[in-house]
Amino acid sequence: MAKMYLVMLGPPGAGKGTQAKEIARQLKLAHISTGDLFRENLKNETELGKLAQSYMNAGELVPDDVTVRMVEDRISRPDCERGAVLDGFPRTPNQAKALDDLLGKLGSSVKLVPYIKVPDEVLVERLSGRWMSPSGRVYHAKYNPPKVKWIDDLDGSQLYQREDDKPETVRHRIEVYNEQTSPLIAYYQEKNLLVEIDGTQGIEKVTDAIMKAVGEV
Ligand code: AP5
Repeated sequence: MAKMYLVMLGPPGAGKGTQAKEIARQLKLAHISTGDLFRENLKNETELGKLAQSYMNAGELVPDDVTVRMVEDRISRPDCERGAVLDGFPRTPNQAKALDDLLGKLGSSVKLVPYIKVPDEVLVERLSGRWMSPSGRVYHAKYNPPKVKWIDDLDGSQLYQREDDKPETVRHRIEVYNEQTSPLIAYYQEKNLLVEIDGTQGIEKVTDAIMKAVGEV
């Protein structure tokens, strides 16, 4: 069976992680989040984690060469046998070209790019209300609250807020997205791979819209 690679595109807080997890589950694909991979390295105090930390806390992008090497390693693991949903990667035109080369070597290519569109003013509210589980599950104080306040529904662990979700850092992340990542909209449009998804709908409606688009490829 041909492998399937999807790229979730959208600004910080658009819902890429929330959707990527569910889409990967439904399609039985691996979920690759570069943000989660960097956070895991940070937690384990690896060299890569130490390098990434200052960029992440400032809301800047980690350099392309480091990020691409990390993805190259991740994408060759056995759980990517059927393909993967990429979340937070690529994030610059250089990373997008590197991904094309990488998948080309595997005899494959990006199949679809769901672009989750959400206006800037909604993003700040989404990120300031976000609560994370150490396992990577994502909650929102208002839109997706845990059953018990700040406790993970499935494993009972304590939820936490991300260091880079402070309003001033969020605003900078949105600027970085507009400058460095938004050119990918045109990049994938030209390849006829982009499908616009209204990210202001409820979480399940967004999932349905993405699954419908995948079904039409
Ligand atoms: P990363 O972790 O990728 O952060 P991001 O792209 O800024 O995206 P977020 O995780 O903040 O948001 P999301 O779109 O996944 O939204 P979520 O589903 O959580 O990157 C962090 C940092 O790592 C970067 O700043 C950079 O330093 C570094 N990095 C990562 N990748 C890199 C790369 N490729 N190159 C270089 N550096 C890189 O949802 C947000 C909230 O909204 C949640 O609370 C959720 O419950 C809620 N929500 C979701 N959908 C809905 C909905 N439809 N309605 C209402 N609420 C919703």
